[in-house]
Amino acid sequence: MRLWLVFLGFVVVHGGVIGPEPQCSKFHYEEQLLEKMVRMEVKVEGVEKRIMETNQRVLDVLGNLQTERKDMKNEFNELQIQYSKEMEERIADIEKLKDTLLTETVAFKARGPSDKSLGTGKTIVFAETMLNKGGAYDNVTGMFTVPVSGAYLFTIQLCILNKKQMHYGIMIDNSLYTSGRFYDNDAYTCDSADAITVLEGGERVYVKCLYSPSSSGDILYEYSSSTYNYWSSFSGLLIHR
Ligand SMILES: *[C@@H]1O[C@H](CO)[C@@H](O)[C@H](O)[C@H]1NC(C)=O
Repeated sequence: MRLWLVFLGFVVVHGGVIGPEPQCSKFHYEEQLLEKMVRMEVKVEGVEKRIMETNQRVLDVLGNLQTERKDMKNEFNELQIQYSKEMEERIADIEKLKDTLLTETVAFKARGPSDKSLGTGKTIVFAETMLNKGGAYDNVTGMFTVPVSGAYLFTIQLCILNKKQMHYGIMIDNSLYTSGRFYDNDAYTCDSADAITVLEGGERVYVKCLYSPSSSGDILYEYSSSTYNYWSSFSGLLIHR
């Protein structure tokens, strides 16, 4: 019933004319669709072009980035090589400096002359080693053999009986470096001397009796108590190489 009414309404609105559509509008829809499609195609082409352009730009930027990265890597490698070379040089410098700055301990002190009677031209051998850092003093020969070139200080103290005299010298190889003499009629006396010198490795330092009148018996003496140590001694020290 209701459908019929709708059909009737339709017939009324169209004036009862139900015939073929007018010629002009037959392809209207198709034309519009075609037009739209053409426009769409143009648009799509534009979009595609832009996409391609963007794509190319991205590729260019990527390419540049890669080149930059490669350059940076190369620079970094070069820097690394340069720095490790410099570090090695600095380390070598430090080693060299350490070698010159670090003065090893060379120090000795010996007492107790093995022969107290002495004699002209005799080396005084201090047989009791109290200290011998570096092992350069020989308590059998009385010789100190310079282990490393450098500045050295030597000191001696000699104690003699009264009415005895002696002339002594600190010798470096065969040269007299420091000398002295002493004598006392009444008292036992001690005398000391020193030598400061720059020496070459291998040179020998020792104490020599330069002159003592030929007489029997001891000239040197040693006396120890809780209060005094009257010791004849020879000591030396490397100050700086
Ligand atoms: C003499 O020196 C040697 C080492 O060179 C040492 O062993 C010895 O104890 C020393 N003698 C004395 C009496 O100090």
